[in-house]
Amino acid sequence: MTHEKFPTDTPAVVTCGLPYANGELHIGHLRTYVGGDIFSRALKRMGQQTAFVSGSDMHGTPVAVNAAEEGVSPEKFALRHHEQYKSTFPQFDIEFDNYGHTDDETNTTITQSIVTGLINEGYVYEKEIPVAYDPNADQWLPDRFVEGTCPYCGEHARGDECDEGCGRHLEPGEIETPVSTITDNKAEYRSRPHQFFAVSELQSYLSGFLDRLEGTANAQNQPREWVEGELQDWCITRDMDWGIDYPEDSDLVLYVWVDAPIEYVSSTMQYTDTVGSDTFDWEAAWRPDEDGDDGEIIHIIGRDIIQHHTVFWPAMLRAVGYTEPRAVMASGFITLEGKGFSTSRNRAVWADEYLDEGFDPDMLRYYLATNGGFQQDVDFSWAKFRERVNSELVNTVGNFAYRSLLFAAREYNGTPEASLSETVDTEIQSAVDRLREGVNAYSVRDIGTAAIRLAQFGNEYIQKHEPWKLDDENGQKAQVIRDCVQISKAIAVLLEPVAPSAASRLWDDINATGSVHTVQLEAAFDPPADQFEQPTELFEPIEAERVDELTAKLADRTTTESSTDSDSTSESTPTEESDSPAVESLLENQVDFDTFQSLDIRVGEIQQATPIEGADKLVKLQVDIGVETRQIVAGIRQLHEIDELPGTRIVVVANLEKTELFGVESDGMVLAAGEDADLLTTHGSALPGTKIK
Ligand code: 2FM
Ligand code: ZN
Repeated sequence: MTHEKFPTDTPAVVTCGLPYANGELHIGHLRTYVGGDIFSRALKRMGQQTAFVSGSDMHGTPVAVNAAEEGVSPEKFALRHHEQYKSTFPQFDIEFDNYGHTDDETNTTITQSIVTGLINEGYVYEKEIPVAYDPNADQWLPDRFVEGTCPYCGEHARGDECDEGCGRHLEPGEIETPVSTITDNKAEYRSRPHQFFAVSELQSYLSGFLDRLEGTANAQNQPREWVEGELQDWCITRDMDWGIDYPEDSDLVLYVWVDAPIEYVSSTMQYTDTVGSDTFDWEAAWRPDEDGDDGEIIHIIGRDIIQHHTVFWPAMLRAVGYTEPRAVMASGFITLEGKGFSTSRNRAVWADEYLDEGFDPDMLRYYLATNGGFQQDVDFSWAKFRERVNSELVNTVGNFAYRSLLFAAREYNGTPEASLSETVDTEIQSAVDRLREGVNAYSVRDIGTAAIRLAQFGNEYIQKHEPWKLDDENGQKAQVIRDCVQISKAIAVLLEPVAPSAASRLWDDINATGSVHTVQLEAAFDPPADQFEQPTELFEPIEAERVDELTAKLADRTTTESSTDSDSTSESTPTEESDSPAVESLLENQVDFDTFQSLDIRVGEIQQATPIEGADKLVKLQVDIGVETRQIVAGIRQLHEIDELPGTRIVVVANLEKTELFGVESDGMVLAAGEDADLLTTHGSALPGTKIK
């Protein structure tokens, strides 16, 4: 089944993964929330009826463990963090239509009714299983209260997830050599009955669901092996006090991953309660009607929770007859100045810290949205942040709007009388189309760059026509300036999703009526106001010294902070620097320096990427390696959208013997890490052809 393109006639719900209410927000988190906000604003600008919802994830051991460390109740601890998140998001213009939390009454009621639905539909059964137990503390050890070895990959893992290895969800009783995180003593397994959700019964449904699923390639491809392999049933109860009671046995609470995604529904319902069902009807979105019509559910998450959103959650929705997700967009992680994030070591750029520095939130939004494709792992550096902001926001957008509007205000007190030229009309149309296509391709980066590309055109246009040299007798000067004011108006409309505050300032500068936050894309073509005053500068450039200070602060902090305290956010985990793995085996296969030198490894830039028919993982690349352009076949489709590859800097082994893959010649090898084929890249300004040594 192919879905209709956006905008559709049915309501959309855009959700962002619920942050555990257990720590501070940093830019690693913000990448996902900014992406969600941009996507939701873009849909709204396209005329799609949309609710943008999320909430804090209050339950489970991620909260209980940290609350216990602080010596406060989980409820008090979680509520404090919830309030903090709720006030931080709007400071970055991340404007949820509703931001709830999983411990509120709405979510408790809906969770219990959905679980009762699962029971009534026959999807829940009881089974005796081994559960980790700490005899010294006389306590059961659910999830993060126990650590040990992953039975699938052998890495150190938490009780419910292999966070340092293969990333799999782990069921109670699976972790090997269990150790209690309460006392650090060896834990034992004791047998105990728990409740299971029969996910395995929905295997063929899930397989079809993955065929229909839209979004980023990582979310479409990664779950295949789980769904098409041996699909395990899922233990949905835990031995804890903190959580939502299992409906039929109040000694047990529901596993946090049951009530967390249900908050997507609860939060939508709360939105309907606030605005009324005429404005947004949660049921029309989440409950298919008798004709099977339902809404467009789009989940925006970090890539560590793909399995939960593409297997367990759709299985649960299906079992109780709710709308399945149409798309899952899973963001990659962020490294910091080339190194892993470490919240415990304070190697992070914190949300509050960014605001305290007095930087414009729009700048971070723009950088996070356009620094690499959404699903790629990317690096944050203050130097690159400055470079992109100064060149694209300040010099391209800001400069174009300022010089055009200043000229218009001085010479004509506003918009000169002339009609819009056909060239400019067509260019604005293409820019609007690009944003629409960006939404339909689930590309946050394409949505984020639509306005910038139009401003680039604007700068070339004004430069080419040099209105300051034209006289106005034949109306040529008025024509060029009229065009430029229209381009500025269109930029404001297209900029709104990614840089809402700047869009609003620009909207005011041209004295446009209404709010740029409620108009639709067609407003880009509406005639601009006859009169407006001299404009203000849209963005302030970032000075080089600021970057030096901030980079030094980060480096200094990394070396001085304690490295013993435990992490508080799951978001950071996959990019944490871990202790060096398996050092001994690394030493076994040493090569001498000459052998290494004999490899010609160099920087390349992808010029073109095309799929290879019949080969799911392969892409045919044309890669600029400085001296020439090479054709290389690479197995990198798991994590990468083909359309997003051109322009990406990569690392290539250039002196391998030629080979043929699927009948296509390959002359070189692209370096990539792990099963997901995470592409190696450079983080400075090394040009294609630069040798790596
Ligand atoms: O991994 C996490 O941070 C979870 N708190 C995400 C929950 S998303 C959802 F499904 F609710
Ligand atoms: Zn593992």
